[in-house]
Amino acid sequence: MAHLDDLISTDILGYLKAQEDKSFLRFITCGSVDDGKSTLIGRLLYDSKLIYEDQLASIEKDSKKSGTQGDKIDLALLVDGLAAEREQGITIDVAYRFFSTDKRKFIVADTPGHVQYTRNMATGASTADVAVLLIDARYGVQEQTRRHAFIVSLLGVKHVVVAINKMDLNDFDQSIYNDIEVDFREFSKDLGFTDITCIPMSALDGDNVTIRSKNSDWYKGPTLLEYLEEVNVDAATLDAPFRLPVQWVNRPNLDFRGFSGTVASGTIEVGDEIIVIPSGKRSTVKEIVTYDGNKDIAREDMAITLTLNDEIDISRGDIICKKDNPAEQADQFQAHMLWMSENELYPGRQYLLKTGNKTVPASILKLKHRIDINDFSEVAVNTLALNEVGVATLSLSAPIAFDAYNDNRNTGSFILIDRQTNATVGVGMLDFALRRASNVVWQDLDVNKAVRAEQKNQKPALLWFTGLSGSGKSTIANLVEKRLLDLGRHTYTLDGDNVRHGLNRDLNFSKADRVENIRRIGEVSRLMVDAGLITMASFISPYRAERQMARDLLENGEFIEIFVNTPLEVAEARDVKGLYAKARAGEIKNFTGIDSEYQAPQNPEITVNTVEMSADDAAEMIVSYLKDKGFLAGYDA
Ligand code: ADX
Repeated sequence: MAHLDDLISTDILGYLKAQEDKSFLRFITCGSVDDGKSTLIGRLLYDSKLIYEDQLASIEKDSKKSGTQGDKIDLALLVDGLAAEREQGITIDVAYRFFSTDKRKFIVADTPGHVQYTRNMATGASTADVAVLLIDARYGVQEQTRRHAFIVSLLGVKHVVVAINKMDLNDFDQSIYNDIEVDFREFSKDLGFTDITCIPMSALDGDNVTIRSKNSDWYKGPTLLEYLEEVNVDAATLDAPFRLPVQWVNRPNLDFRGFSGTVASGTIEVGDEIIVIPSGKRSTVKEIVTYDGNKDIAREDMAITLTLNDEIDISRGDIICKKDNPAEQADQFQAHMLWMSENELYPGRQYLLKTGNKTVPASILKLKHRIDINDFSEVAVNTLALNEVGVATLSLSAPIAFDAYNDNRNTGSFILIDRQTNATVGVGMLDFALRRASNVVWQDLDVNKAVRAEQKNQKPALLWFTGLSGSGKSTIANLVEKRLLDLGRHTYTLDGDNVRHGLNRDLNFSKADRVENIRRIGEVSRLMVDAGLITMASFISPYRAERQMARDLLENGEFIEIFVNTPLEVAEARDVKGLYAKARAGEIKNFTGIDSEYQAPQNPEITVNTVEMSADDAAEMIVSYLKDKGFLAGYDA
């Protein structure tokens, strides 16, 4: 590199020390596709002389050949040249670039500007101290600008630079700049930014990026680089409460037991009293071990292993805190969520919630509203679609340690994972815990499932029939129930058409309502099984996720999935209720198999092929299965 300080050749240790002492600033650049983001980052790297000479030579050559800037160097090539390496199917697509000046070290998160990449932006913003929002001076504040400003504010970025770019294209007209500044300040006034700095710029020519422009005498503020070097963002984080989310328990031999992770916030010293959340166990710090020896004190961002003076149980995902200022714990929350999946969010559906190092099953209890990014108004909705932001309440299957996102971005954020595909489908920011949950205690009754089952001399189970409308589910379930009755068993059948007349009268056939339909049936079935009954549930239940949820509600082995496999053509040809004809005629919407999806089971316990097998034979087969698996042998505890 051409620029490194003289120190590097004369006093390498001095140089390294100076580097280490510099503060770090993380920032993110956001802009629409043609706002000039790549050029701006290229300009920063170029002017801070962090470009290898051979790289520069190659860009100069490429600029002449394919650049868009005549004789000038096309700095966008520097950044975009790396684009290919980003296109390797990485879902979260953020490029982090490092550079430094004499005053500070920088990491810039560069994210693609297309609307569908909002999720990448959110990823970059979640660690940023400052957001640089680009606006093309010719177009002013756009929908994208509002979206980006909103998301960075949601993710807790407090300092914003509005880079009003391409000012060279309107002769650095101050009135244009002023209008954009007024516009931006007006719409963002409730977003909670502590400071907003607008800078007139031409990233292409370098005006006010690192060098003060002669074209904008009227502008008295800092250049972008001056701002980035000076902005004060450090103060808050070191005073923050100490949090060490435990990544793994390090036990190389019987004499050593350490708890490893990266300090999410605050500081810790040898001798400090600690408390582990959620268990509440306490001890004191014996050693702080790091890759370059033991330390007396550790601070945010350091990877450490703590050993303690007492043998206490700590698991991955717990958070070690200082005794006087522990994290909270809860299993129900309100949270802001940004949805990142083509598949919409459905209340009631189960996802995996991952926060820090802990992953637990979670479901959305209620979607309170969506936030319209244009005017930040609250809109009542049933689902969230890709890139939409909303506020929801969530229920977790176990308590987690956490902080409100406002207090701590590391321990207050989470992602939601689709249980079927393992894809990240949403990011969330925890607002606060809902106390109600912890106050509702499950009643341990003396008469329990085992007692009820024993009285009936049977082993309860749930036979879950799934398949298209008209596949024969109810017919077969009915025959199975009759046979079981003949064998003296105690049974109950829940059936789609019947339940929709009562309990689920309020639901129709939208995706969201089907999810809720099956969620309720899952819960009711669990109560039936708890009552000791051999229960039959006969529902289309088109989605794997909810069938899995119903399965998870029961004990291992109790849920028996029966796929009534009737091809669409056959079910349609039978058309017992005449509904397929109506659906084809467009009189019924969202009809399963026609204009609504059916996800066939992948590993059902039993598959019934109704083309090859009569309903009677199918019922016989299912009863034999129950016999073989010991369900009908009498209750054995
Ligand atoms: S599910 O999809 O939510 O599991 P459920 O089994 O409760 O469906 O109800 C399905 C029954 O409702 C069908 O057998 C059919 O009689 C009736 N029905 C009415 N409209 C529809 C529709 N759009 N799609 C599927 N079934 C429908």
